[in-house]
Amino acid sequence: MASRALDVAWCTGQLRTQLVGATLLYYPQLISTMDEALRLAATGEPEGTVIIAETQSAGRGRRGRRWHDQPGHSLLFSTVLRPTVEPRGLPILSLGTAAAVAEVLSSRYDLPVATKWPNDLLIGGRKVGGILLEGRGEAVVVGLGLNVNGQPQALQADVDRPLTTLEAETSAPLRREEVLVGVLEKMDGIYQQFQAGDSDGVVHRYRKFDGLLGRAVCITVGTEQVYGTAEAITDRGALAICTAEGQREIAAGEVQLLAECE
Ligand code: BTN
Repeated sequence: MASRALDVAWCTGQLRTQLVGATLLYYPQLISTMDEALRLAATGEPEGTVIIAETQSAGRGRRGRRWHDQPGHSLLFSTVLRPTVEPRGLPILSLGTAAAVAEVLSSRYDLPVATKWPNDLLIGGRKVGGILLEGRGEAVVVGLGLNVNGQPQALQADVDRPLTTLEAETSAPLRREEVLVGVLEKMDGIYQQFQAGDSDGVVHRYRKFDGLLGRAVCITVGTEQVYGTAEAITDRGALAICTAEGQREIAAGEVQLLAECE
């Protein structure tokens, strides 16, 4: 599919949300939508504003990784939020965002999407999207990168894990605007649920897509590697694993399926 700028006016006209996407700010190029969202948040930007870029010169992922995009083919955006829950609850916001994307990909496009805790989105074991949460003061910025159109080879360059795009999985290009509106509407509903204190409900939605359950994993927690079998996502959004020493709850870490670890 030929590269084309995102039709933000169409998205604004379609969007039916209470808060998320109240303002959509579109940039042909940014260093990172995270930086712009954090900058705006620090100057009092109201929650719900979404910063979208067609391409990023230094898109970032978790753990200092780069996030690559294909201009005109990817979805790259960050949302400014001002949650009132205590910071300990914030991991659930990132699980909720993963659930929002997974629900859209599954229900609208019939894709067999799975999450890899905490916030990778996979199809057939290949990564199609990722979520990054960063805070500044009272504000939290939730970033999403989603490989919509184009072929994965164009993104693979220096990335050592298998990647995919929605186009590669559906064998047809998707209208990015429809994906964006769908995701923002789901995010809006989940954010209302989260703010109303229904974290259990948010985690319940995430669990439906949990691709780790019963899998042998190794988890990097700081400098430690923990081996075990993934057992559950707890109500607090942690990963419970069964290790040789007993059950353990991991609040934050980098998961690899055991086969990938060795
Ligand atoms: C990950 O899987 O490691 C998280 C990837 C997050 C990428 C998105 S793209 C939009 C936003 N801007 C960034 O620089 N990063 C996030």
